Amino acid sequence: MKYAVITGTSKGLGASIAKLLMKASYHVIGIARNENKEFASLTSQYTHYKADLANMDETVTVMSQIISKLKQEKVDSLLLIQNAAMVTPIEQVGKQSVDALKNHVHVNLLAPMVITNLWLDEWRESKIPSVIVHVTSGAAKRSVYGWSAYGSTKAGLDRYTDTVAMEQDTLQTGNKIFLFDPSIMDTDMQGEIRSSDSSQFIDVDHFKVYKTNNDLRDTEVVAKVLVDRLLQSEKIVNGDYYSVKDIF
Ligand SMILES: NC(=O)c1ccc[n+]([C@@H]2O[C@H](COP(=O)([O-])OP(=O)(O)OC[C@H]3O[C@@H](n4cnc5c(N)ncnc54)[C@H](OP(=O)(O)O)[C@@H]3O)[C@@H](O)[C@H]2O)c1
Repeated sequence: MKYAVITGTSKGLGASIAKLLMKASYHVIGIARNENKEFASLTSQYTHYKADLANMDETVTVMSQIISKLKQEKVDSLLLIQNAAMVTPIEQVGKQSVDALKNHVHVNLLAPMVITNLWLDEWRESKIPSVIVHVTSGAAKRSVYGWSAYGSTKAGLDRYTDTVAMEQDTLQTGNKIFLFDPSIMDTDMQGEIRSSDSSQFIDVDHFKVYKTNNDLRDTEVVAKVLVDRLLQSEKIVNGDYYSVKDIF
């Protein structure tokens, strides 16, 4: 059986990636705080694990449970897609709460690091090499007023992914890890961005126009770009930066 572990499957891009991988005969193991109601009846194709990725003890416990379950199965293909993230706090530096910053860094950066570390440790002796995807953002590469937390955690994720790729190359494990930039999509995250005040996010009107002009891509379209790449394993390059903009 082919297995994909995906974070953030309750909605948005993660839900669309899950749907397409199920169509391609993957069994999807999803992680999020909320269940995706659409997937509730798909018990032979989808298994949900509830976890708050801001909580590291919970994250490690749930990932360890998932990996030990997988180790009891006959695994032919193994994907780990770290997609879950948050954009808040959207606020100028000097006005952010410590709790909001802590939560943000845990979900967007610490959880992916902890999960990838655990994954590579647990599958070290596996004969099936893993493919790991970290979902990034253009905000990793440019400063956006009000998005200091988001830009910093995504930039951190980019450097982390690049380093892991270099190590896996050197160790000749056959594991591949790459970044996927989905660009702007019509999800709840964009709704949160639009609901911010211009004192918190100077470009808010610009993002309102993206919505009214229909510039936000549908998550199904974006997910297909990633899944097409995942299904053509010979095209996956370790350490790659792959963007939806490479396709359209
Ligand atoms: N939307 C865009 O325009 C855009 C642009 C560039 C990059 N991205 C990136 O694309 C990815 C997907 O974004 P999206 O727009 O689909 O976001 P979204 O609609 O807000 O969905 C976020 C997903 O992450 C999960 N999540 C958030 N906090 C969590 C937590 N504490 N514990 C567990 N799961 C958590 C959510 O599940 P629960 O709430 O159920 O826990 C949800 O399934 C993210 O990495 C984002 O940074 C998005």
